[in-house]
Amino acid sequence: MRLVIVAATGGIGREMLRQASAAGHDVTVVVRNPDKIRESVRIVRADLARPDVPALAEAVQGADAILSGLGARSHAEAGVAERGTRAIIEAAQKAGATRLVVVSAAPMGTFPSPERPHPPRHDPGDGFFMRHLGARFAKAMFRTHYADLARMEDAVFASGLDWTVSRPPRLTDKPFTGRYRTAIDRNVRGGTSISRADVAHQMLHCVTDPATVRHTVGVAY
Ligand SMILES: NC(=O)c1ccc[n+]([C@@H]2O[C@H](COP(=O)([O-])OP(=O)(O)OC[C@H]3O[C@@H](n4cnc5c(N)ncnc54)[C@H](OP(=O)(O)O)[C@@H]3O)[C@@H](O)[C@H]2O)c1
Repeated sequence: MRLVIVAATGGIGREMLRQASAAGHDVTVVVRNPDKIRESVRIVRADLARPDVPALAEAVQGADAILSGLGARSHAEAGVAERGTRAIIEAAQKAGATRLVVVSAAPMGTFPSPERPHPPRHDPGDGFFMRHLGARFAKAMFRTHYADLARMEDAVFASGLDWTVSRPPRLTDKPFTGRYRTAIDRNVRGGTSISRADVAHQMLHCVTDPATVRHTVGVAY
């Protein structure tokens, strides 16, 4: 398949690139730092914090799917998930590419956004710990990042594309296992962490899983 991997230099992005290349896919990466890419793949350079990203349109031309591991590296960079994803969506719409898989975060089902100002108080997949401690703590700690992700999700939901939003809880750099749980439109019950390698695997799997189209997917151990 012809896959475009956006932010292939991040923790999840790098793993998506590694796994997609190993599986023999034809991969194009969209990155702001091409020097970080060691694989021999087609590289498109783009700073997705910029208002206009003309390189994207060409990158996504003919893509079977676009996968994005884009996210802010710091508080100061928050906003890039929304801005960059809007640019990706616009480029996909222009190019006629329809499949989009993006990474978000587990607390997003209960985090307000401009389009969802009154989200449910609890995610149906969250147990006592996540409801009363985990999600509250994370929202207080990562409010700026989550506001960015919530706006990103608004853009994805309104895109008209065949989207999937992956919502992992706390990420780790532990090795790939392939043994994780998923849940459609809810978080994974009792799931509090997952490795970036396993999230990458789940996102790649979504590309060919029609059950995930236009759904959010909880993913955790
Ligand atoms: N940390 C957690 O526990 C956690 C939990 C749940 C969900 N998440 C979400 O998952 C996302 C991915 O996680 P991760 O660990 O893979 O993130 P990461 O390692 O911080 O990777 C972020 C990626 O976004 C790229 N990027 C940032 N700003 C950019 C810009 N202006 N233009 C182009 N590319 C840009 C980075 O490029 P460079 O390499 O050039 O910087 C990098 O490739 C996070 O951003 C977060 O939203 C995180």
